[in-house]
Amino acid sequence: MGVISCDNVGMEYLPGREILRDVSFVLEPGSFYFLSGASGAGKTTLLGLLALTQRPTHGAIRMFGEEVTRLPREALPSLRRRIGTVSQDYRLLSHLTVEENIALPLKVACEPESVIHSRVDEILDWVGLADHRNARPEELSGGQKQRVCIARSVIHRPEVLLCDEPSGNLDLQLSLRFMYLFEALHKMGTTVMLATHDDYLISQFTYPVLRLKDGMVEEGR
Ligand SMILES: Nc1ncnc2c1ncn2[C@@H]1O[C@H](COP(=O)(O)OP(=O)(O)O)[C@@H](O)[C@H]1O
Ligand SMILES: [Mg+2]
Repeated sequence: MGVISCDNVGMEYLPGREILRDVSFVLEPGSFYFLSGASGAGKTTLLGLLALTQRPTHGAIRMFGEEVTRLPREALPSLRRRIGTVSQDYRLLSHLTVEENIALPLKVACEPESVIHSRVDEILDWVGLADHRNARPEELSGGQKQRVCIARSVIHRPEVLLCDEPSGNLDLQLSLRFMYLFEALHKMGTTVMLATHDDYLISQFTYPVLRLKDGMVEEGR
């Protein structure tokens, strides 16, 4: 049994307009998958279902051994804490510093201040932003904001990391730098699914690819 599995998952935002249909796959614990597909293919929609921020119209999704599609709303936050998400639009809080943004998931989980401090220090070094810890998001470049977003999404050491076009507006060199960060996490045991429409980026790695086309997913490069 995988860490995530989808069984005939379908999704409609509007009745009769299927965005995803009969999507089935299994992600093994510790695996790394690309999710590819043209713009509008449904990548963000599928990641939203896996991040438990929306529910499918049909089918079953299992995560961490639980069928999540029918769980009551109250049961979702504790599962969500086991998932990290890197969103397309950063979603940083502009009134908080870099350090405060990154610490948020640990604050929400009521971790002690001492733990928060040491983890934030560690992760600021890891993403190369130690010198910018007191900056506000508006003072950062796009690539730096993206690194804050990545740091925030992994600081609580999620078992699964879902990344939505993390290299969307970045040049190839920066995209590859981010890929090495995600690979480092993957090597520590995190299951990673990374959505991108960039076939060139995919071609630089040997990880398996789930390809979305006409609402269906096929496996292979
Ligand atoms: N909240 C929504 N309401 C209605 N349609 C949506 C919504 N979100 C996405 N869509 C539609 O679903 C399709 C897939 O979108 P999306 O999942 O964002 O694709 P991708 O991330 O691959 O570009 C698109 O046709 C988009 O217009
Ligand atoms: Mg998208």
